[in-house]
Amino acid sequence: MRQSFRAAPGGRLSGSLRVPGDKSISHRSIMLGAIADGVTRVSGFLEGADALSTMNAFRALGVAIEGPADGRVVVHGVGLHGLRQAAGPLDCGNAGTAMRLMMGLLAGQRFESTLIGDESLSKRPMRRVADPLALMGARIETRDGRPPVRILPCERLTGIRYEMPMASAQVKSALLLAGLYAEGETTVIEPAPTRDHTERMLGGFGVRVVRDGAAASLVGGQPLRATAIDVPADISSAAFFLVGAAISPGSDLRLEHVGMNPTRTGVIDILRLMGADIAVENPREVGGEPVADLRVRGGALRGIEVPRELVPLAIDEFPALFVAAACAEGRTVVTGAEELRVKESDRIAVMADGLRALGVSAEPTPDGIVIEGRGGEARVFGGGEIATHHDHRIAMSFAIAALRAGGTISIRDTDVVDTSFPGFVALARGAGLDIEEIRG
Ligand code: S3P
Repeated sequence: MRQSFRAAPGGRLSGSLRVPGDKSISHRSIMLGAIADGVTRVSGFLEGADALSTMNAFRALGVAIEGPADGRVVVHGVGLHGLRQAAGPLDCGNAGTAMRLMMGLLAGQRFESTLIGDESLSKRPMRRVADPLALMGARIETRDGRPPVRILPCERLTGIRYEMPMASAQVKSALLLAGLYAEGETTVIEPAPTRDHTERMLGGFGVRVVRDGAAASLVGGQPLRATAIDVPADISSAAFFLVGAAISPGSDLRLEHVGMNPTRTGVIDILRLMGADIAVENPREVGGEPVADLRVRGGALRGIEVPRELVPLAIDEFPALFVAAACAEGRTVVTGAEELRVKESDRIAVMADGLRALGVSAEPTPDGIVIEGRGGEARVFGGGEIATHHDHRIAMSFAIAALRAGGTISIRDTDVVDTSFPGFVALARGAGLDIEEIRG
């Protein structure tokens, strides 16, 4: 059944809440738990469709996995060489991370696998992973560089030294996972820092990953030792509430137990440059990942030129940041963000269309966007209707825009929100957003 959101104009956000578990870490907890020796216990797991796709894929590959129940998952690892051929294609749903990381992990297996995805994932580029894996000796077939992806049985992978042409944690992670099965050393060099959850978590499983500036290396054949993983709340999900509270005067919201990995906190830096009032409270470390509570208060924002070096550190948060830019005084310019064009949707084009539909001037550029902020006005957005293009973050970004709208914002095809943020509507309502879910 199709689902939509109706977000009524106005309001502010207050109280204290914890958003669901980190999507990147949840995917990795299943993958590494599956190929470890022993039992890995996960808490705080994201029970969203993306992470469940990964879980089901590994069940199909012969791994016993209990849960999820209240964020708890138990993975009975089969060891580095214990995966078995699946009976059919592995369905990654909407999840690019599932597909790309599994390409790496399955490239060195002695059996064949096929990876498929939904309409959005089926349009996304896979050569960025398939090409370097081929250099390692993998045999991978795609349909013109897109899914479905067929991975042929492999006798032998060889480690490579690979300089990534784009800043992608998925490519880096896929190559490191393939490197576990390769002879010799695999080194990945990134053009700019990207999220390092794979390197951190491999370390937690006892794998020696050497990091030297922009390079991460590992030697193949190292066994993984099962461990316990406590998944922090996803800063990418928290971002909708950070922006929502920052753009609505009178808001005062606390977000609990948010993952603060420095490769993910660009959204906080960018919002602060725009003048947002965000306090980091009670910083601590949980299972190798930094965590904190965030307190954000509403106020005036100003337009900025987003520093290019912050772009990869906030890459998933730009749809929400574009909403903040519309609510700022003055112009915001984003450059160096061409990767946004190959996410769950073309987030530059889709956000520009949506902002314009609501009366905000937004000019897409090949690698970014120019947004003319309307922060001087109480009502920044007009009412209107938005299409999500099967992109969860588009849906949630326009939902929070309602806080500064003059009319109702209707958002079509919001089922996809469940990929990363099950329970979004209930949490948002509890915090003060006047939103309802309409089915049918
Ligand atoms: C992710 C990496 C990023 C990000 C995606 C999750 C990951 O993608 O956009 O949502 O978990 O490694 P890229 O590696 O394509 O930048």
